[in-house]
Amino acid sequence: MGKLEVIAHPLIQHKLSILRRTDTSTKAFRELVDEIAMLMGYEVLRDLPLEDVEIETPITKTIQKQIAGKKLAIVPILRAGIGMVDGLLSLVPAAKVGHIGMYRDEETLKPVEYLVKLPEDIDQRQIFVVDPMLATGGSAILAVDSLKKRGASHITFVCLVSAPEGVKALQEAHPDVDIFTAALDDHLNDHGYIVPGLGDAGDRLFGTK
Ligand code: PRP
Ligand code: URA
Repeated sequence: MGKLEVIAHPLIQHKLSILRRTDTSTKAFRELVDEIAMLMGYEVLRDLPLEDVEIETPITKTIQKQIAGKKLAIVPILRAGIGMVDGLLSLVPAAKVGHIGMYRDEETLKPVEYLVKLPEDIDQRQIFVVDPMLATGGSAILAVDSLKKRGASHITFVCLVSAPEGVKALQEAHPDVDIFTAALDDHLNDHGYIVPGLGDAGDRLFGTK
């Protein structure tokens, strides 16, 4: 079973509370998503492999550590996942970025995939799928399906707000995928929205409603 980790650092909790508020502007929402993704990145990336490197300090030559240069990919689920990309890229600027576009059919709540554009060597990369919301889990599951169909195997899912229903569904469908979230909320309402949640992440990020 994939691991579920709630990254409940005080800075993240504080920023998340502002993010959730109805009166937070689009501009502030965008900035907060970026900042929280960056803060989460510190934990999400903590298992990056290191290698030895010989360097010279003003005093002596010494063997120290550097990131092993393993190939990474950040894959946002459009639209809202886009808001989390820059925060992670600021930590790993050499990572490649793939895109998976999907939206939830408002009646069935099932995701509909409309775009997949990935780095050519996606099967050789360690992949971080990002989306602020894990609600029913349908979008995350389909995104991971899509990546695995293209040969990907080392996949981590990173979100800001999750519902227990979505966590369970993703863990059952893809037990090999670890999940990092900034908050595990209470439940889903009848419309598939996370409660208390933050509303529609895509609309709030892009100001479309
Ligand atoms: C939101 C969110 C996730 C999905 C989560 O996207 O960004 O992708 O819903 O819900 P699920 O876990 O039940 O699948 P939405 O469908 O609103 O698309 P948008 O980002 O383009 O607005
Ligand atoms: N998608 C969102 O943007 N918000 C929710 O609460 C659920 C799905």
